[in-house]
Amino acid sequence: MKKCPDDERRELLLGNCAENGKLCMERCAQSMIAQIKEKAGTGKVLLALSGGVDSSVAAALLSSAIGRNLNCIFVDTGLMRKDEGDEVEKAFGGRELNFVRIDAEGRFLSKLAGITDPEAKRKIIGEEFIRVFEEEAGKIGAVDFLAQGTIYPDIIESGLDGAKLVKSHHNVGGMPKNIDFKEIIEPLRLLFKDEVRELGAVLGLPAHLVHRQPFPGPGLAIRVIGEVTKSKLDTLREADYIFRDEVAKAGLEHSINQYFAILTDINSVGVTAGARSYGGIVALRAVVTENFMEADWARLPYDLLNQTAQRITSEVDGVNRVVYDITGKPPGTVEWE
Ligand code: XMP
Repeated sequence: MKKCPDDERRELLLGNCAENGKLCMERCAQSMIAQIKEKAGTGKVLLALSGGVDSSVAAALLSSAIGRNLNCIFVDTGLMRKDEGDEVEKAFGGRELNFVRIDAEGRFLSKLAGITDPEAKRKIIGEEFIRVFEEEAGKIGAVDFLAQGTIYPDIIESGLDGAKLVKSHHNVGGMPKNIDFKEIIEPLRLLFKDEVRELGAVLGLPAHLVHRQPFPGPGLAIRVIGEVTKSKLDTLREADYIFRDEVAKAGLEHSINQYFAILTDINSVGVTAGARSYGGIVALRAVVTENFMEADWARLPYDLLNQTAQRITSEVDGVNRVVYDITGKPPGTVEWE
């Protein structure tokens, strides 16, 4: 029976990093940095940076601790939201670490060509990710440590005794097998998500990165229903950007837990510029939830929905209808695929 990490967690956070019983994130950051320095020494550390909150904060923490002994590989799958790849590069490109961005869009899109089944898409993306990562890691040579942005809920969800996975799809990529390393470093393994965000802010990461909403590993590939193509992804990116922009303008970014657009595989008849059109349908999804195991659809203001629909149908080529998903989880999942 493994020791419950809760004991270790309390010891670390409340023992060394508390001030008057309250967690002091500055002190916590210092203690974590010291622990990493001690463990890694002068060894080389390799991290897969996805641009999500966890791996970004892990990168910032590791770079503060070991600087240029950290190697970050950012696999740009081409399945990210508008401008996201550039934002990640901007946040890390200037830091004291070895940051490599791999443009792998072409590889992912050619593997996904003709694939419509959601699970097949997940599997292909997970496998391709590992392949690209391993190839790139091979160029760096042997490393001493492999770092991961695992956080406390990931450990709980994976089962403390190796019990059944609650959400196997969260681990689509699995672990790289062909990389030579001695040990794993998981610097965030004792933190909850809100603590990870707080730590990111203390380490100087930009607010938009630290407060980013969850984004699935397979990215927009599971928000383009059916076959994924570059042109469908571009259409979805524009619609999704407009929705996020309107949510931000309404000041609701932090009261909804996840919100995004989906490009359906249905066309419908509409009237565009006074003439009959036969165009795509975009669905909008927004949920409020505590743990993503259950979720309620967000009661977004009608004006916000109206403004979003008007902008999408007038600004995004090929889309002439917008619908809003009012399904809870269960029975619906958050993602459509
Ligand atoms: P579902 O759709 O299962 O989503 O209700 C719950 C949360 O998990 C995210 N999600 C994923 N995350 N890989 C991931 O890393 C996946 O394959 C995946 N599928 C869903 C989803 O965005 C939501 O936050």
